[in-house]
Amino acid sequence: MPAASLTIDPAFRIGPVDPRLYGSFVEHLGRCVYTGLHEPDHETADKDGFRQDVADLVRELGVPIIRYPGGNFVSGYNWEDGVGPVGQRPRRLELAWRSIETNQVGTDEFVKWAGSVGADPLLAINLGTRGIDAARNLVEYCNHPGGTYWSDLRRANGSPQPHGVKVWCLGNEMDGPWQIGHQTAAEYGRLAAETARVMRLVDPGIELVACGSSHRRMPTFASWEATVLAEAYDAVDYVSMHAYFEQHGADRDSFLACAVEMDQAIEEVVATADHVRAAGRHRKRLGISFDEWNVWYLSRFQAAEEQSERDWAVAPRLLEDVYSVTDAVVVGSLLITLLRHADRVKIGCLAQLVNVIGPIMTAPGGPAWRQASYHPFALTSRYGRGTVLRLEPTSDRHETAEHGDVPLLDAVAVLADEPGGPGESGESGELRLFAVNRHQHEPLTLDVDLRGLPGLAVATHLALADDDPDAINTAAEPDRVSPRRLADRTIDAGRLRTVLPPLSWNLLRLSPPG
Ligand code: AHR
Repeated sequence: MPAASLTIDPAFRIGPVDPRLYGSFVEHLGRCVYTGLHEPDHETADKDGFRQDVADLVRELGVPIIRYPGGNFVSGYNWEDGVGPVGQRPRRLELAWRSIETNQVGTDEFVKWAGSVGADPLLAINLGTRGIDAARNLVEYCNHPGGTYWSDLRRANGSPQPHGVKVWCLGNEMDGPWQIGHQTAAEYGRLAAETARVMRLVDPGIELVACGSSHRRMPTFASWEATVLAEAYDAVDYVSMHAYFEQHGADRDSFLACAVEMDQAIEEVVATADHVRAAGRHRKRLGISFDEWNVWYLSRFQAAEEQSERDWAVAPRLLEDVYSVTDAVVVGSLLITLLRHADRVKIGCLAQLVNVIGPIMTAPGGPAWRQASYHPFALTSRYGRGTVLRLEPTSDRHETAEHGDVPLLDAVAVLADEPGGPGESGESGELRLFAVNRHQHEPLTLDVDLRGLPGLAVATHLALADDDPDAINTAAEPDRVSPRRLADRTIDAGRLRTVLPPLSWNLLRLSPPG
């Protein structure tokens, strides 16, 4: 049987987890907003038209920050269309996804809804068709207390208190030729720096994210970041990263190892940002806002688009990927990578939240349910709070076509906060080990040396695995895929020995004697 081992010692720390690592993303795309979050005729809708069955699932998922309103959508969006009396809002051609945007939900509704599910808003501004003026007005609308044109308009629209939006994205994927108004790195770097400066004149307390590359496979990856940051380093707090992964053909081994590519991408962006820091003699270190990541069967979407002559429609079914156990294990593994880089990755947004490549699905007029990928995300968000510890696992390995030789084990450990700390999961002093077995057919024996944590006695083990790696959840069978509790293990003389099922994501909670 393949084997792996690791030593966990609280002396070796990567850093504290910023809870914003567990963010998500809502775009005006397909059915994410309309018939996803918002469906006034639904039996669970509140007075603002938001589905409470969905809101309950979002609360349970545990997303402390949600990016909005795009995505590609934002680069053609006039935010003014989405405020004021709902009945008077314009219907617009939405060019990014060839849809009709009714503007029934806009900034005020989103911010209020986000607060109701325990999330802060992370707003993106339009740097495609708009620029500094629209951005500064939106910051004034959202964050200025009152007594000025835009802040008084917010008050007149029913929000007497400022929205207090702390984090803002300076556009979206501005390196992508598909992006409305996309730019060269030098053009974008200047615009981002000037827009940031003016937005901070309105509200000096905000934090700003510059667009990094849309993907590591973009031809300008790394040189884009270097050029943009040479212009904008001092003006921003974070550089963004985006990454989507999918299984190509029958090559499941490569797909199960795609977190290796995410790891490399983070290291490369960190190195690029730190190079600009050194060359520019800057003092601060930039964080990373990984504000779009997930499994996305993009090639299927592109193939479908080539076939379709889609007419303009309101809330069409777009990007409604259904996630399998395998996809869920990959999502868990991508979260492990984000945690391993908790010293630099401060914000993460699972893209997206509902229906559109989301962990939650809805039927219009019908139920809402958890996709398979919901589970590793919800459990990591709940238990992955505290301090990430540095591990140096030893593992059997295998060869993959896309990523070469990779370890079978992917793992990270998080020490829960001490009593009185900021942790939210209640059980302080626990150690949480998140682990993936990438082998499709063989269980993986795992030996853990815990002599550095002598108080731990018992391990409870939750695993996401299935005899059918293609198993999915549906409206008819919403709990077909869900985590199973495996037998508890005792920790003997500082050693834990356990077995990870084939193709599985695992959460081991190691606690003192009960
Ligand atoms: O999340 C779907 C799309 O992926 C977003 O609109 C865009 O930013 C990215 O390319």
